[in-house]
Amino acid sequence: MKYDELFALLRRRGVLWPSAEIYGGAQGLYDYGPLGAALKRRVEEAWAAWFLGLSPDYHRIEPAEILPEAVVRASGHLENFTDPEIVCEQCHAAFRADTILEKVRPEGVDGLTPTEIAEVVSTHQLRCPNCGSRALGVPRAFNMMFGVDFGVTGRERAYLQPETAQASYLSFARMWDVGRKALPLGIAVVGKAYRNEIAPRQVLFRMRAFTQAELQIFFDPAHFDLPFDRVRDESLPVLRVPRREAGEESPEWVRASELVAPGGLPEFYVYHLAHTYRFYRDVLKYPIDRIRLFEKSDAERAFYNRIQFDVEVQLDSLHGFKELGAVHYRGDYDLGRHSQGSGRDLSVTLTSGEKVLPHVLELTFGVDRNVWALADTHLSKDGERTVWRLPPYLAPVPVGVFPLMPKHHSEYALRLADDLERAGVAARFDDAGTIGKRYARMDEAGTPYCVTVDGQTLDGDARDTVTLRDRDSKAQERVRAADLAGRLGPTLRPPRPPRA
Ligand code: GAP
Repeated sequence: MKYDELFALLRRRGVLWPSAEIYGGAQGLYDYGPLGAALKRRVEEAWAAWFLGLSPDYHRIEPAEILPEAVVRASGHLENFTDPEIVCEQCHAAFRADTILEKVRPEGVDGLTPTEIAEVVSTHQLRCPNCGSRALGVPRAFNMMFGVDFGVTGRERAYLQPETAQASYLSFARMWDVGRKALPLGIAVVGKAYRNEIAPRQVLFRMRAFTQAELQIFFDPAHFDLPFDRVRDESLPVLRVPRREAGEESPEWVRASELVAPGGLPEFYVYHLAHTYRFYRDVLKYPIDRIRLFEKSDAERAFYNRIQFDVEVQLDSLHGFKELGAVHYRGDYDLGRHSQGSGRDLSVTLTSGEKVLPHVLELTFGVDRNVWALADTHLSKDGERTVWRLPPYLAPVPVGVFPLMPKHHSEYALRLADDLERAGVAARFDDAGTIGKRYARMDEAGTPYCVTVDGQTLDGDARDTVTLRDRDSKAQERVRAADLAGRLGPTLRPPRPPRA
């Protein structure tokens, strides 16, 4: 579906809309309505079920979202969390450098210095996208954090967290003390990140307040034993740096065992990369031919990373592959910087007596971008029908309950919807319009199951049975109302990683 059509549909169905809409909207901020909020919650639950399911030593915490200045100074964000900005000297509009260079350098400006960016601008005689003037200023580094006045005097400086990861590093010492005192130790956070993006755009893709789900795995680089056999034969769609430099955009299928061959990537990295890939393929169900694992070069990687593969999915609405998450090997950067910044040594003593400063492997996931991507890839027109083919455990409303004739069947249907809710199966009663219209509304909302109460439910041999209609096949069957929760419930639980 085209971008405008998709956004219009999501707004019309109350999935999401611009924040402060009645005041003309606030750039880069969006609100989720009932369907969107439920979908986002289910995506977060699916993420937690999968990634916390990787190990009993991975735990979720819920930290504060404001960071004192000392934290972002130590983490490097005060100095390095910048995007190159270009201001037009004629009309004073400000742009991210990559939007000015978009046509001549579609791969972006990661790794270019401000001087190199200025050279590209001058070589191609680029103009201001707003007023058309050639008077574009010298690129400068723009820090994307939101600073806040903290405390009553307003003299203490603090920042809204630009990534949820920092909270896990700050909690590491406490989690070590209250836990098993062993590595690996995983700390997960699902929370808001705030970035003063220069040019927010593409709705949920470049927001100023968005949700990240991030797992930080603290480990001893000398001993990180993992059941690598579980992923050894998995083929991964990787686009590595040499292939990219040769001008290729499509990934090649490489087995995990080949990626770790001598001189290759570390086993702990490929093990988690493979499980991350499986999450996008098997849980979120993005089409296999639309996923690629895109390796970032030395110049392109974030300042804290040693190895970085972004998970990208091809989206029709945004005309190409887009980053939805990543696997970052951050080395000892984070605990090293926070040891220096806080004055507290964050190294730990293992049972062997060895002292180690743990390294960090970060599995990061943008929740909002995935909500958009799930609409882009799973929502489509099927003749007159618009169907959102979400897996049942991601559907905002898993079950629709309809009285065939509201006057006669509503009482039973309302009680059935309530019974399902009490059994943990979210259900919505709908008695408005024809049955066809009700199916159409549910198809568009991604509801996989619709149940209709009719005359047979109330009377005769088929008493207490209802019709159950499947969204994708449109097949209908007669089932006992009392069996519904037991039958549908298991399909509504998000998958966990397979056991050995
Ligand atoms: N802790 C590492 C980190 O924050 P990142 O690549 O800056 O890395 C991780 O962000 C993920 O957060 C991205 O893969 C993307 O899905 C999401 N994300 C980043 N910036 C975003 C924005 N402005 N709007 C929406 N999602 C964003």
